[in-house]
Amino acid sequence: MKNLVVLAYSGGLDTSVAIKWLQDNCNFEVVALVADVGQPGDLEVIRKRALANGAKEALLVDLKEEFVEGYIAAALRANALYQGKYPVSTALARPLIAQALVAHAHEYGARAVAHGCTAKGNDQVRFDVSVALLDPYLDIIAPAREWKMSREEEIEYALRHGLDIPVTKSSPYSVDENLWGRSIECGLLEDPWYAPGEDVYEWTCSPKECPADPLYVEVVFERGIPVQLDGVSLSRVEILRRLNQLGGTYGVGRIDMMEDRVVGIKSREIYECPAATILITAHADLESLVLPKDVLDYKRGVDYLYADLIYSGKWFSPLKEALDGFISITQERVNGTVRLKLECGRCVVVGRKSDYSLYDPALATYGKGDLFSHQSARGFIELYGLPMRTWALKGDEADEEALGQ
Ligand code: ARG
Repeated sequence: MKNLVVLAYSGGLDTSVAIKWLQDNCNFEVVALVADVGQPGDLEVIRKRALANGAKEALLVDLKEEFVEGYIAAALRANALYQGKYPVSTALARPLIAQALVAHAHEYGARAVAHGCTAKGNDQVRFDVSVALLDPYLDIIAPAREWKMSREEEIEYALRHGLDIPVTKSSPYSVDENLWGRSIECGLLEDPWYAPGEDVYEWTCSPKECPADPLYVEVVFERGIPVQLDGVSLSRVEILRRLNQLGGTYGVGRIDMMEDRVVGIKSREIYECPAATILITAHADLESLVLPKDVLDYKRGVDYLYADLIYSGKWFSPLKEALDGFISITQERVNGTVRLKLECGRCVVVGRKSDYSLYDPALATYGKGDLFSHQSARGFIELYGLPMRTWALKGDEADEEALGQ
């Protein structure tokens, strides 16, 4: 019996060619795994394409629920934005798909797993490191990292072997999509000075075409996780779908950035992440209402680190687990409602409330009913400023002495 490999199959050129290549070059039989992480398109068509291209079996695995509850929820609670901007949407789906590969490799008794990543990107790092953490004995094969075919040669290879490759007009960009966002790179975008045309965007309207009137949305959070949208309890998947749609209509969540890849390359990236942008904006604002300043400040550092570890493929690492412990405790009181206004390409928080709010009107007001102790302020500043006063006095004294000598 031939050895088996479980391949993450997207239906694109690389993974279609990979099925044939794994059979011919490695003598493997291929089980293709199509992961549903909420990307648009008919995934059943893609599953059938894997069979047409010679896979022994092809599975369509619905990972949406797990993606949202186990991965997106954690990223949101950490307000995860890589380098302060990118909601790590592509990065977040990789360990989940790696986990599915490993689980199916075990089920089928496969010796190896495979993916279609090339040698220059982050995704290979995320797949390989995740698989290594989950099962260090499995082999990992990345055909597109090994073969020396150009894109044209790949197409030629596919035609020569009668492979079924996507016939849609080939996009000038490389695109990856899931429920948390859409990533676009390559082609004209490789010039950091090139202003992206509207053809780059599919989820979001141009701010010029947005409705004239702003739209207000209200999100209710429990323990840092959204549970209601505009007063209606909805599943998390449904909340994301609606916010992607509403935010998209208002051109919210377009990101154009220079990014540092794990492999040391700087690259120019475009993202469309309407739901992620709205929810992270709302969640971080609610945290500012309910968390004490020291926790909040410390957590912002953890948030940054958390986004970085998701980006760099450390989802199953001990560091991630340790930070989860911290984040989980900080979220115990992140309950409340945030009201946001969507207009012309932006979303802003216009209101927030919570039973756990630390905002106290009797302390904050400049009007009637002020309970803040004004006398205490003076004494407080005297002690608080003592080291600085001492510093200034000491400096003066020493300067005078030096002058007198
Ligand atoms: N730069 C992003 C990341 O590393 C997006 C990668 C997009 N992947 C793709 N196959 N187009 O997470």
